[in-house]
Amino acid sequence: MQNFQSYLDEVYKVVLELPNTGKVATYIPELAAVPHSKFGIQLLDIHQNKFAVGDNEEKFSIQSISKVLSLSMALQCIGEDVWKRVDVEPSGDPFNHLSLLELENGIPRNPLINAGAIVIADILVSELANPKKDFLEFVRKLANDNSIVYDENVAKSEKETGFKNYAAANLLKSYGNLTNDVETVLDFYFHQCSLHMSCAQLCDVFYLFINRGKCKRDISHLNINQIKRVNALMLTCGFYDEAGEFAFEVGLPGKSGVGGGIIALLPNSFCVVTWSPPLNKKGNSARGMAALERLTTLSGLSIF
Ligand code: DON
Repeated sequence: MQNFQSYLDEVYKVVLELPNTGKVATYIPELAAVPHSKFGIQLLDIHQNKFAVGDNEEKFSIQSISKVLSLSMALQCIGEDVWKRVDVEPSGDPFNHLSLLELENGIPRNPLINAGAIVIADILVSELANPKKDFLEFVRKLANDNSIVYDENVAKSEKETGFKNYAAANLLKSYGNLTNDVETVLDFYFHQCSLHMSCAQLCDVFYLFINRGKCKRDISHLNINQIKRVNALMLTCGFYDEAGEFAFEVGLPGKSGVGGGIIALLPNSFCVVTWSPPLNKKGNSARGMAALERLTTLSGLSIF
């Protein structure tokens, strides 16, 4: 068995010695209050052994990490039809840019940028009987943890300042790629982003992406081909205009969120979650990127 704990101890020590650069996201006011010094890492291996350092049990706003989970649920609901409404190409643009959406007639480049995730939210609003409740149940089931909740204050804070997301949703609507009304879809989207979870809980949820679609209780939620597609999208689109840099430095599929979390994984081997709120210029956790680069360099474990 890999000595993951010694890798994490070493990574934590090295990264803590680096200056804590970057800026906490302030465009969602509620996120601005989170202490900059928080730093945690959790790793779960394929045999369900757990390894951790720092603030791994503390809960934070998972933000865009949720886009992987909403996409997964949409695949469960309508399968490959998802790709009729959203493409699978990296955008090379920041997560909230809209210029390509107009140029490409309302088809978002991929489901992990905001416009793409809003289309996925629209699919779930159409398909689920009680969208917010059912999505929360899905995440709780994956984690086998009923304590997971939405942070209503974060959802409200984002709604009050979500002008770009309103612009994206309206643009999608104008191109006929949003079937429900803008308010309902964005209410769902703001809630999915507000999920309040720890590194440890996120590792539990993401276990199915290293275990061919089966969660920790051995229940199958996605098939192998769906897992292949979602992991491929995390690699090519999970870090927006820094996806190339993440593949270059870390070499794993992954997804970031502006709450400072990053999930990364090696299929059939391990998933790892880092949390440190200050973000680099591309909106990804600065310490999280540094920690994951160290982890894969020290261990020699990456998809490459
Ligand atoms: O829609 C937004 O702007 C946020 N709820 C999520 C953005 C985000 O996490 C981007 N990821 N790095």
